[in-house]
Amino acid sequence: MKKKIITADGSFSVFDSVLNETYHSINGALTESLHVYINSGLLFWKNKMKKQSNFCNIFEMGFGTGLNALLAKRFSDQKKFKVNFFSIEKFPLSSSLYNSIKPIDLSLSEEKIFKAPWNKKFLISKFFTITKIKGDYLDFNYRKSFDIVFYDPFGYNTQPNLWSKKALKISFDLLNKGGVWVSYCSKGKVRRDLLELGMKVHRLDGPPGKREIIRAIKV
Ligand SMILES: C[S@@+](CC[C@H](N)C(=O)[O-])C[C@H]1O[C@@H](n2cnc3c(N)ncnc32)[C@H](O)[C@@H]1O
Repeated sequence: MKKKIITADGSFSVFDSVLNETYHSINGALTESLHVYINSGLLFWKNKMKKQSNFCNIFEMGFGTGLNALLAKRFSDQKKFKVNFFSIEKFPLSSSLYNSIKPIDLSLSEEKIFKAPWNKKFLISKFFTITKIKGDYLDFNYRKSFDIVFYDPFGYNTQPNLWSKKALKISFDLLNKGGVWVSYCSKGKVRRDLLELGMKVHRLDGPPGKREIIRAIKV
């Protein structure tokens, strides 16, 4: 059973009572997504690339509530920076749950993120496209490569199979050289596996309630 929750910064998220997991930190879903994925991932990559690229391709593991997609879209429109966002989701939320957890201040183009059909590239705004794939991250037949990976499965104890070295390697293989991998997880085992895969691994300060997060670069 999945139900809406309100997190500490007033933003909405979902609690899955079967998994006993929330989709975001209860200390603030919006704050967490902005800190981990937008600022430590997308903004970092844009600054790193300077003028070498005026667009980027993002892969997200776990579309969930669509919050990361929405924030990436806002970033790309504000910065006039093209983003192609590709997100895979095995268990899409029901449309009634989507409707109840969407931020209330959505623009018409932002609404399209939630209404966009599955398995099709969809133009959301002049700067942002989304491809939402309904499928299993672990056995999808990927045909693209990416500049940034937002690695956002449920926690290590809930979904250990998605944190195994084999699962991490799928996201590593999807990244272009110099690409950026970010996640809220800071487990030592995950850091060591990323290092062994050939990444430069950095520990960054976490959002409220979390000491550290991981950013890794494919060298
Ligand atoms: C922590 S939530 C993601 C939150 C999301 N990024 C957001 O912005 O709301 C994890 C998501 O991964 C999805 N998931 C779990 N196992 C998966 C798999 N094998 N393949 C694709 N998606 C999966 C879950 O259904 C859930 O929506």
